[in-house]
Amino acid sequence: MCGIFGCILKEGKAAPLIHASLKRLEYRGYDSVGVATIQDGEIYLKKDKGKIDDVHRLLNLDDLPGNLGIGHTRWATHGAPLKVNAHPHTDCTGNIVVVHNGIIENFSELKLELENSGHVFVSKTDTEVIAHLIEENLGKNAELTLADAVLETVKRLDGSYAIAVISTKEPDKVICARNESPLVLGVSDNGVYFASDIPAFLPVTNKAVFIEDGELISLSATGYEIKKIKDSSVVKRKPKVIAWTPEMAVKQGYPHFMLKEIHEQPATLRNTLRMQEHYLDLISTFLDRATEVFMVACGTSYHACLAASYMFSKLAFLPTYPVYASEFIEQHGKSVNIDSTILAVSQSGETADTLAAVTCAQQRAATVLGLTNAIGSTLTRVSRVYIGQQSGPEIGVAATKTFTSQLSVLAQLALRLSKKRGKISQDEMDYIEARLEELPDMVETIIQTQEEKVKQLAKKYKDAKLFFFLGRGISTATAYEGRLKLMEIAYIPSIAFPAGESKHGPISLIEQGFPVVFICAKDGTRKTLVSNIMEMKARGASIIAIVEEDDEEIKALSDDYIEVPKGIPEVMSPIPFAIPLQLLAYYMTLEKGQNPDTPRNLAKSVTVK
Ligand code: G6P
Repeated sequence: MCGIFGCILKEGKAAPLIHASLKRLEYRGYDSVGVATIQDGEIYLKKDKGKIDDVHRLLNLDDLPGNLGIGHTRWATHGAPLKVNAHPHTDCTGNIVVVHNGIIENFSELKLELENSGHVFVSKTDTEVIAHLIEENLGKNAELTLADAVLETVKRLDGSYAIAVISTKEPDKVICARNESPLVLGVSDNGVYFASDIPAFLPVTNKAVFIEDGELISLSATGYEIKKIKDSSVVKRKPKVIAWTPEMAVKQGYPHFMLKEIHEQPATLRNTLRMQEHYLDLISTFLDRATEVFMVACGTSYHACLAASYMFSKLAFLPTYPVYASEFIEQHGKSVNIDSTILAVSQSGETADTLAAVTCAQQRAATVLGLTNAIGSTLTRVSRVYIGQQSGPEIGVAATKTFTSQLSVLAQLALRLSKKRGKISQDEMDYIEARLEELPDMVETIIQTQEEKVKQLAKKYKDAKLFFFLGRGISTATAYEGRLKLMEIAYIPSIAFPAGESKHGPISLIEQGFPVVFICAKDGTRKTLVSNIMEMKARGASIIAIVEEDDEEIKALSDDYIEVPKGIPEVMSPIPFAIPLQLLAYYMTLEKGQNPDTPRNLAKSVTVK
């Protein structure tokens, strides 16, 4: 998974813009970077392994001539993160230059075929075959335009790709193509742009054209032409105005995107309360009719699904199955059928495992519903109905604001379904709806009053070798999410369990001073949770409790506690209770001297299976 960007400008040099835009795509991968431009029929190319800033210090990525160019920020799939494997890649002559996001599944066969025809490969990547295949096609028929040669090439590729090609053959063009990897165009008075994601070009234009699978695009100074790969038919598609402002995509004075995004949650939660009623109604109608509902997702989105399974059960008496998307095909692929409904939850809408689960379900005639933050993403196109969570771009690799927004949308869906089914009393419904409206303020209060306390907690426990996160009921999902956050960015091994399960094994790890974080929502599970706290205390654990502000009993049992406002209905408790856990992970990461925005080996959008 990688980020690609490129442009053709009427005025100005392309390289500095490509460099700046790749920085905004760094969340997609950051192990190598490269830029190529054309001027006066000559290719200029710089690339190396390492983060963009480091490579820029070494090579000055702004210093390439020309108003047209392409760039790439990489997360290795084929070939180690080395200079030779960094994009862009070229053909034998160096006159055809390619950047690519995705995986070419049949690259070994193609490589062998091309090598037998005399092509010499320098990298271990799958991408390089694309450059040589274009060269081969042009060699066979010099009459072909660059666009035609790319068209012939992509017809031979199996797998996923968003590619961009430049060549000295037609030095005023960029040819792009897409299959199962994100690609979007930008259009402004000063030129045309392509990128893996909108924030890349948002500072220069808010007019975007979403490219669909199976499309090929010719970009020139005068605009863009879209064609279907299968039959070369021309597709007319106008740009859409994107409401995101460029400011939404920068750090706004925070030291890290993650902290900025944690602080944005009161605002993003307010946004999710302005959902389009129509879509909430439509999705809840589908859920109402469903005989079985699978919720498929990965990572943090899976935790939102797990929490949602409690919401749907408690509010609407609807049983649902949260499933890791990567396990869905093995676990349910044979049994899913026309009567099944799949609610796919994916912040990016591009996660390969989630899309694979959706494809499997669709092939078996199941109904696919989607919840995503990326309108125009693949998930929105393959869903029968989808709903946008409206969180704005999230740059920090660790999901924060998009998690709480997912929870808010899912809670609203559960409430909507509950109303349809008449499962809870009007009083209860009114109470929950009123609290949902208050949630953004609650979250604001937590950040304002508890952040400093969490910072101190991080200092106190910074040398802990292992952390436990425990909760019961819906708080199990919160515990899992707290564990994932700490583990993925602070690199602290962490364990999460339903508190009731902790005595069936995990408790054997407890030693004196071992930190155990308890998620203490005041719900039906609280009494037994107190027993679980006692069990851990008796074995010397240090209890860190996330408690409602009036929960004096649990405070008295704890070594440390962080407070959230009182009176939170249990179905929405993961939202406020997740905030201190996000802050804990963030400040522990700082204590460890790591950058929370770019955890090693991880990427924001995982577009490979
Ligand atoms: C990656 C990200 C996680 C995210 C997961 C699922 O692992 O690092 O933060 O939760 O993918 O992504 P999605 O876009 O499908 O929600």
